[in-house]
Amino acid sequence: MILALETSCDDTCAAVVTADGDVRASIVSSQGVHDRFGGVVPEIASRHHLELVNAVVDDALATAGAELDDISLVAVTQGPGLVGALLVGVATAKGIAAARRLPLAPVDHLQGHVAANFLEPGAMEPPFLCLIASGGHTLLVRVTDHRGYEVIGRTLDDAAGEAFDKGARLLGLGYPGGPAIDRLAREGDPQAFDFPTGRGVAGLDFSFAGLKTALLYKVRDLGDDAPRADLAASYQRAIVRALVDRVRETGAERVAVVGGVAANSELRAALADAALAPLALCSDNAAMIASAARYVEAVPYPRYLALDAYAAAI
Ligand code: KG4
Ligand code: ZN
Repeated sequence: MILALETSCDDTCAAVVTADGDVRASIVSSQGVHDRFGGVVPEIASRHHLELVNAVVDDALATAGAELDDISLVAVTQGPGLVGALLVGVATAKGIAAARRLPLAPVDHLQGHVAANFLEPGAMEPPFLCLIASGGHTLLVRVTDHRGYEVIGRTLDDAAGEAFDKGARLLGLGYPGGPAIDRLAREGDPQAFDFPTGRGVAGLDFSFAGLKTALLYKVRDLGDDAPRADLAASYQRAIVRALVDRVRETGAERVAVVGGVAANSELRAALADAALAPLALCSDNAAMIASAARYVEAVPYPRYLALDAYAAAI
């Protein structure tokens, strides 16, 4: 069995997954301490990971009915993400692995999101198109094998989840903004306002900065009379259209969607024919890291002791 850790942002995650991709345990401890700041505060995230990580690992093992003796590989997110947050996971994984002389598999966070599709039940086999849409990333990738992918489109500015979060802030909603806009949009008219969908952007890339500015001006113009539900519904419609249009433009028949934004109800309805991983596997989790680790070359003890986290995508 594989024990995996994921601490790239504000969720402290540990999972136990079999070599066949069965998830025996996937624990996600959301810190919930960043809401009042309207976004994740990196230093606070690191400190909370440090406080939570051992308990989350214990919880994952207990839930799986496993002990460290049952683990043959330790996996961890190496990057990209908040470097201080990543380091807590990397150091913890090194400690657990080194104590038992186990190999360690460093996993790229985005490869992890893609590998959520390889988990059972219903594992998806390449080739397929994958839309990764989260708070930090928005990418359209062609997955041709289990080990990698080719990026065919990416956001030129904000990530889709970031657009939801910033829009929610403009509408006076809480953080994270995606679920809040999703809820409010149900009471509004998505055609009330015409927001830009970034269609002017060439190729399969995305742009959400103009959309956010358009909302800012609308909120300013309308002031206290702003019909917030209509604004939320129209804003959400623009983000979903941008994502769905790009997916359709590829002509791909087999499509998977992962990342926190995959939880969006309008996106799920619009891409009903796509493979939509269970919500718990869409947002950040360690089961997807364990899944990716199955296809990574594990580093033997003690070579991984020199392993470092990386902040930016490589
Ligand atoms: O994948 P994730 O959990 O963490 C990152 O790696 O970023 O994604 C979090 C993002 C946040 O921006 C959040 O607002 C967005 O996913 N999100 C949603 C919904 N639920 C979460 N966006 C739209 N609709 C939702 N229902
Ligand atoms: Zn993520």
